[in-house]
Amino acid sequence: MSLLKTEVAGIYFENPLILASGILDENGYTMKKILQEGAAGVVTKSIGTVERTGYRPPIVAEVTGGLLNAVGLPNPGIDSFGEEIKVALEAGKPVIGSIFGGGVQEFVDLAIKMEGYGANAIELNLSCPHVKGVGSEVGSDPALVTDIVTEIKKRVKIPVFAKLSPNVTDMLEIAIAAEAADALVMINTVRGLAIDVYARKPVLSNTYGGLSGKAIKNIGLRYVYEVKMETGKEIIGVGGIENAEDAIEYIMAGSSAVQLGTVLYKKGRQAFAEISSGITQFMKSEGFGSIKEMVGAALP
Ligand SMILES: Cc1cc2nc3c(=O)[nH]c(=O)nc-3n(C[C@H](O)[C@H](O)[C@H](O)COP(=O)(O)O)c2cc1C
Repeated sequence: MSLLKTEVAGIYFENPLILASGILDENGYTMKKILQEGAAGVVTKSIGTVERTGYRPPIVAEVTGGLLNAVGLPNPGIDSFGEEIKVALEAGKPVIGSIFGGGVQEFVDLAIKMEGYGANAIELNLSCPHVKGVGSEVGSDPALVTDIVTEIKKRVKIPVFAKLSPNVTDMLEIAIAAEAADALVMINTVRGLAIDVYARKPVLSNTYGGLSGKAIKNIGLRYVYEVKMETGKEIIGVGGIENAEDAIEYIMAGSSAVQLGTVLYKKGRQAFAEISSGITQFMKSEGFGSIKEMVGAALP
């Protein structure tokens, strides 16, 4: 077990595998079960200020190499989420509270409440609609990203992770803008579209969706590698990890830990145990004594 332990911003994880935001993590009991069955940590569903029901179906489509989803950030609202965090924390492992908002003050208020509930870190979902400017995203505005991260860092004591969206012209610029964050999480889903040719219309009710799964792995790897090389910041890699080798690729590109999302739909919760054991086998056969030795091993 100790071979797999890792650390991100002073938080210890017994292995490098964390549940990604949005998958089986709106409920405290499910999060607790996933932690008890092998995940080293969980990120909650992204939580906003008020309850949202999300978009009408269809909200998820199976596409080549993964899933296309536009669930519309359904969540119970921050004021009803304390109990879920409390239950998840009973597993005795790190629980990371994901939040989304439309501006600086909303993010700050949510972060303070998450910290109050006992979350071990905050993950900022910077990929949601921006109040000023229709169709834009909070995470594509570098000045706004800097303001959100800097203000939250002044107001909470727990580590703050900034989750970046690949749907920007220059992710490196946004990574640099998030300088005050303790770690970066990359990547969120890649904007895409699927069409039902018989109905002659887009499959999802929202038209566009976010692509996840195997199809985005090499996009995520490229961003992790590039941002690690240019900024040296601590990174949690996510996007298309389905097996131990995928996770090791992300670690060698510069991730100190990784998150699993879409693979849970394919392999179920046992994905954590299976990938952990594959990483252990690889480390033993390749002579790695710790995850730390592998982090960034592929960088020049
Ligand atoms: C159904 C679904 C819901 C998601 N909801 C969220 C969310 O609420 N907040 C967030 O930051 N990311 C969300 N994501 C993105 C994932 O956390 C992850 O960044 C992305 O799916 C890439 O990883 P994967 O290929 O392992 O799924 C969601 C993904 C899926 C498939």
